[in-house]
Amino acid sequence: MPPVNSSQDATFGNVNAVPVHCGFVIFGATGNLAAQKLLPALYNLDRHDRVDAGVLIYGFGRREWTDEDWRGYVDGVLRERLGAAVDEVVLTRFLARQRFVKGDLETPEDYQELGARVSENGMSMNLLFYLAIAPDMYAVVAEQLAAAELNDEFDGWRRLVVEKPFGYDLESAKMLDARLHRHFAEKQIFRIDHYLGKSTVQNILVFRFANLLLEPLWNRNYIDHVQISHAEDKGIGRRAGYYDQAGALRDMIQSHLLQMLTLVAMEPPPILDAEALRDEKVKVLRSIRPIPPRAVHAHAFRAQYTRGQIRGKTVPGYLEEEGVDAHSTTETYASLKLYIDNWRWRGVPFYIRTGKRLPEGMSMVSIRFRHPPQQLFRETPIEQLEPNWLLLGIQPCESLRLEVQTKREGLELRATTTQLDATYCENEATRLGAYEALLLDVMHGDQSLFLRYDEVEWAWRAVDPVLKLWAQERDFIHTYPAGSWGPDEASRLFDKEDHVWRNAL
Ligand code: BG6
Repeated sequence: MPPVNSSQDATFGNVNAVPVHCGFVIFGATGNLAAQKLLPALYNLDRHDRVDAGVLIYGFGRREWTDEDWRGYVDGVLRERLGAAVDEVVLTRFLARQRFVKGDLETPEDYQELGARVSENGMSMNLLFYLAIAPDMYAVVAEQLAAAELNDEFDGWRRLVVEKPFGYDLESAKMLDARLHRHFAEKQIFRIDHYLGKSTVQNILVFRFANLLLEPLWNRNYIDHVQISHAEDKGIGRRAGYYDQAGALRDMIQSHLLQMLTLVAMEPPPILDAEALRDEKVKVLRSIRPIPPRAVHAHAFRAQYTRGQIRGKTVPGYLEEEGVDAHSTTETYASLKLYIDNWRWRGVPFYIRTGKRLPEGMSMVSIRFRHPPQQLFRETPIEQLEPNWLLLGIQPCESLRLEVQTKREGLELRATTTQLDATYCENEATRLGAYEALLLDVMHGDQSLFLRYDEVEWAWRAVDPVLKLWAQERDFIHTYPAGSWGPDEASRLFDKEDHVWRNAL
């Protein structure tokens, strides 16, 4: 049953703002990200009348396509995704916005052509450039745009949206940032982390800072440890080219899961604007205790899936996936133990993990409270007396559960676990998702939910020692059968014997 809501108003975001006139350029137009996320999100915004009538969408890609070919492609992508839910009137309107610019990312003339196309018909020169391309091409495109003077804001804004991973490690992130800043000012750069656009992730902030109740408990005096888990039943699909280089630690932990950690651990910002919010997140990241090289094995664990079964269906192992090197030791499962050395959190372990081909897809934050100081209920053996847990479900359902101990029926004074449950699931098709929210924010120039460079840098610092050691130790990796929750050895990170992964709500 849904919780009783008195208001659904968003505290931030630009969902209700007047649509902005701009040109939307997608680099990597025929790639996975554009098909899976960007085109559906833009269509969805159009369906909700959040796209200005004059907005044109330019696919930039190498294929020898006309505008018509591109429209046919977009039509196919959306029909495949939406099936019977496609709205023909909206789709027709959406396809009419589409243009295609045949171009190579490294060819200057093609950017001249792009410049000519976007200024056709006296179009406004507000331009949004979305880099849905291989990360090693981000700086190249920024430089080419600048050479064609497409970075210059003389007659409208120009914004660059950069996907994760931002760099490959600390050093490369620094270099990338310097190269982008040669041609784009910070206010033009939008480093996207789509987890921050998820309403359930934003709910962590609302839950913490709109309720007084929890604040006195939200610290090392009452919280034993925190778990942040992301599980996927999917494998790597057709993304071997990217994933085999990246691995789970870079792909999920350095970005999405560390962002979730900052929201769980941060201090309340003085106001909810972009700088105040990001200042507080950076403080958390800066307080993460560096992992010394000799302690990496005590703080980090990695593994790779082998062939197995998920919901009764046999799925291939990672090494059998199309495009994966037969000797690859890239991790598809990673877990990490971090400590945040500040007054609020010192000594509280934060366990973070992610994995592909686990039994189900789910993300959640699980907070375990300490045991009460005295054992009064002697009829309940101590090992059965469960501590309180607070479970914040991010997906597939938005949920909030508090586990408390109550008296069991009967004459003895025995305790049992009861869940106070405020879980509800919304229909996926009817809601504006993470990409929709963030694309609107870019169009409105709102950087609150985008990463400032110092956040990215401190997040790299947290994982860099692990990446360095793993890069040297390339001859062995633990494995787990697809459909399992990962190898048992992953528990070696736990500080105490009664620490166990929470796999379900
Ligand atoms: C992406 C990762 O950033 O996030 C993918 O590259 C991962 O590997 C995805 O599957 C998970 O996002 P979501 O929104 O499906 O949980």
